[in-house]
Amino acid sequence: MNRRNRLSDSERPPGFVFRKHRERWHGDRTFALHCEGIALTKLAERFGTPVYVYSATSILKRLAAFEKQFRHFPHTICYSVKSNSNLSILRLLAREGCGFDVVSGGELERVQLADRRAARKVVFSGVGKSRKELTAALRAGILLFNVESESELRSLAECATECRMVAPVALRVNPDVAADTHPYISTGLHKHKFGVPIRSARQLYAQASASKYLKVTGVSVHIGSQIIDVAPFGEAVGRVSDLVRELRGDGHAIDFVDIGGGLGIEYHHPGLEFSDCVARYARAVTNPLRQLEVRLLLEPGRSVIGPAGILLASVLYRKENDGKRFLIVDAAMNDLIRPALYGAYHEIVPVVQTDKSSPKKERIDVVGPVCESGDFFARDRDLPHVEEGELLAILDAGAYGMALSSNYNSRPRPAEILVRGKSAKVIRRREKVRDLYAAEL
Ligand code: LLP
Repeated sequence: MNRRNRLSDSERPPGFVFRKHRERWHGDRTFALHCEGIALTKLAERFGTPVYVYSATSILKRLAAFEKQFRHFPHTICYSVKSNSNLSILRLLAREGCGFDVVSGGELERVQLADRRAARKVVFSGVGKSRKELTAALRAGILLFNVESESELRSLAECATECRMVAPVALRVNPDVAADTHPYISTGLHKHKFGVPIRSARQLYAQASASKYLKVTGVSVHIGSQIIDVAPFGEAVGRVSDLVRELRGDGHAIDFVDIGGGLGIEYHHPGLEFSDCVARYARAVTNPLRQLEVRLLLEPGRSVIGPAGILLASVLYRKENDGKRFLIVDAAMNDLIRPALYGAYHEIVPVVQTDKSSPKKERIDVVGPVCESGDFFARDRDLPHVEEGELLAILDAGAYGMALSSNYNSRPRPAEILVRGKSAKVIRRREKVRDLYAAEL
């Protein structure tokens, strides 16, 4: 594949593209991966590595793709904060009118910090909301509580009664629909801990409407994450729409259908038009709701932010053990755990490349410095030859990258940089080792 075109499919620009590099080397022109108008080589010089780099324009374009494909259906996009909760990213999205899906008091606090008025567009999901979290969300005046059990319904009713505030409620139903994704992130089957069985939902709705501090107003569903085939979404929403009709028949006013998140991205095969994927998704989920006159709530995370971010790392060492080759980079599983946790694939590209259409490749593992064999970004990957000191970009790392990072091995977390055009802003400074032990007594 011609590497200049490789990243120039419409899913990536204006995010990450190879552009001519000023250096000339052995008469070959060189190309450097840029984030918008800035070469990643420059960002590495300025901010060091490992570092997360996000393209603001790419984030906004992806959000705009959702807005466009759902324009004919009343909807609110509630970006899933768990995928990337950086305050500047939340602020960027809030300014576009985005709402938010939160799963903890911490995420709610972030949203409120990012934008004082955003709480009214917040939906609160999760199987284990504490009373403290429920009360904080009530006081914040959120849009919808997605309640996941009978016990939680009781807790919410008690908190609402204590506060003398009415809680807007949807039950998250488990539609028993299988989605083709990693078992750890599939949520829509009865064996999963999420939601209440769709068959017992009516009875719980009846219970909810008995409390004057609960206002039944929606139905919610989420079948999992990184789902490419849109058919299971359609199936789940079909079951939800049947339930909405039944609930209305029972006398409940159902204004919202929250269909969760989960639309997958192409980690392996960049080349699909993102707007086509969203169009297919929009058709699948809106068809079953056509006659219902509800407002659709969408909770995309990965599909908005995933391809808009990369993890930039430097090669520390090359190493060969009995013919097995390794590139040891300065980023590790604590910075991006997806390969170790889910066996996830992330495309890796050398940041500087020469203008040869098919460079010689070598089969190599890309690994980090952490003391675990699970600390890898790629195994037996065919990559162009890179030397010690060169830069690698680990692609599609915007979602569930920094959000799942840790300080394992007492490694300070990377900085995060938000690029827009030719400007680059530090949106989270690199941690220092003393940050890591600051909370210890
Ligand atoms: N709504 C709910 C209720 C969710 O549980 C999730 C994700 C989302 C929305 C957002 O889903 P998305 O559009 O991002 O697929 N750490 C895993 C992904 C975990 C997803 C958990 N729930 C990964 O790195 O693949």
